Amino acid sequence: MESIKVVLLGLGTVGKGVYETIQTHQTQLQAVLGKKIEVVAILVKNKEKKREIDLDPSVILTTDYVDILQLPEIDFVIEMIGGIEPARTYIEQSLTKGCHVITANKELMAFHGKELRKIAEQTGFQLAYEASVAGAIPVIRTLQELLQVNHITKIEAILNGTTNYILTQMRKGKISFEQALMEAKEKGYAEADPSNDIEGWDAFFKLMVLSDLVFDEQPNWNHVDRSGIEQVLIEDLTLAEQFGLRLKLIGSLYKNHDRWEAKVKPTFLSKSHPLYYVEGVENGIVIETDLAGRLFFQGSGAGSLATASAIIEDLVNVWQRQKLGVPKRGVKWKAIAEHKGDQSYWFVIQSKQKHRKNEDLLLKNSFQQFGITIHASEWIELPNQEYTTGYVISGRGDDIKKFLYQVEKQYWGLKWYPISTWQEQEEKSKRKVYA
Ligand SMILES: NC(=O)c1ccc[n+]([C@@H]2O[C@H](COP(=O)([O-])OP(=O)(O)OC[C@H]3O[C@@H](n4cnc5c(N)ncnc54)[C@H](OP(=O)(O)O)[C@@H]3O)[C@@H](O)[C@H]2O)c1
Repeated sequence: MESIKVVLLGLGTVGKGVYETIQTHQTQLQAVLGKKIEVVAILVKNKEKKREIDLDPSVILTTDYVDILQLPEIDFVIEMIGGIEPARTYIEQSLTKGCHVITANKELMAFHGKELRKIAEQTGFQLAYEASVAGAIPVIRTLQELLQVNHITKIEAILNGTTNYILTQMRKGKISFEQALMEAKEKGYAEADPSNDIEGWDAFFKLMVLSDLVFDEQPNWNHVDRSGIEQVLIEDLTLAEQFGLRLKLIGSLYKNHDRWEAKVKPTFLSKSHPLYYVEGVENGIVIETDLAGRLFFQGSGAGSLATASAIIEDLVNVWQRQKLGVPKRGVKWKAIAEHKGDQSYWFVIQSKQKHRKNEDLLLKNSFQQFGITIHASEWIELPNQEYTTGYVISGRGDDIKKFLYQVEKQYWGLKWYPISTWQEQEEKSKRKVYA
């Protein structure tokens, strides 16, 4: 039987999962593709490394990419190295050589996705990157192929399993951020250097990949409101639970007046929001569209086999549709009529006050002075006779940000988080808003 020839760049967590999946699912692959999948070579950094994997003796294991370039008749190169270089150069050279490329690399796609997609288009070969966003969840293909006519009006997503795990454990186990992070490291959910995850960069890169795909452009990175979860305290989560709110690191793409905006921010979610129920290392994505309404996806955002699943499905899809090419969202995004000055909700936390009543009153007065509505407030007493108070407030659009910016200077330990709800009423009002 003829075979489809594949080269793997990288044999780490993802590379190993892909190699193994090709062996374990060979019958299924042959049934679908009518051909065998044959891994002909694997590029690694260190050839001497001990690996818990049985490689077929015919597979060339090399540390030199020139060996790969010299191989005849390669159909696919699958990049699972990570980082920008040398991954970027290898992908460019693979496309130019005449191979389809599949990558799991969100950082590279965020920085150089546009340029690499252009090279792919020029060469006539395909670049697929489902695994770069939300692991096993088929979000890229859904946006690229299944929602070509729908207008996407908003995307909200939990794109990082590590931070979702930490926040879940902090809330459920009443443990500190540091303890939850340590637990995540012990379980292999966080890397030795977790800064990319906890500072929100990982989610940010994934959001930029989605932005490129959906809107054919990325927002100015300097204007993206990105923050991580390092400042979150257990009492913040405990307090919010009294209002039925849960904190998640949410990446969102949404329209603000005449431009698309993106943000990655710890956000409190109400029970009406589907992402409220996405716990632990799982990822979740809500896509709001004009025709299909709200679509919700949940699943494994990382891990060897979950990521391999996205890569192998990409391979099959690229092979099956190679004559058709990559579908494009043909129409440039039209401006959407915005509900100017939408009412938005915030959860404001005033941490570790010494004299709760006085400060509470002062802050409440300030809310009123700025025309902000307080819907509810609760407080908890901390062991050392300090208090943390939480307020659910609402106000119109940017006004609330100005208010919060002003009072932050006066009140120590003040933090605020957006609240995202997804009530039936809100949903209706946001639909059919096209000009
Ligand atoms: N891990 C996940 O769950 C997950 C999920 C989604 C996406 N991803 C993405 O998938 C990619 C790979 O992640 P991973 O977790 O599998 O990483 P990993 O375990 O660190 O594996 C990286 C592999 O790349 C090889 N490598 C690194 N630098 C190289 C170089 N300069 N030349 C040749 N080979 C090199 C390493 O070789 P040695 O083995 O010799 O060191 C290793 O086999 C990343 O882009 C990551 O963001 C990962």
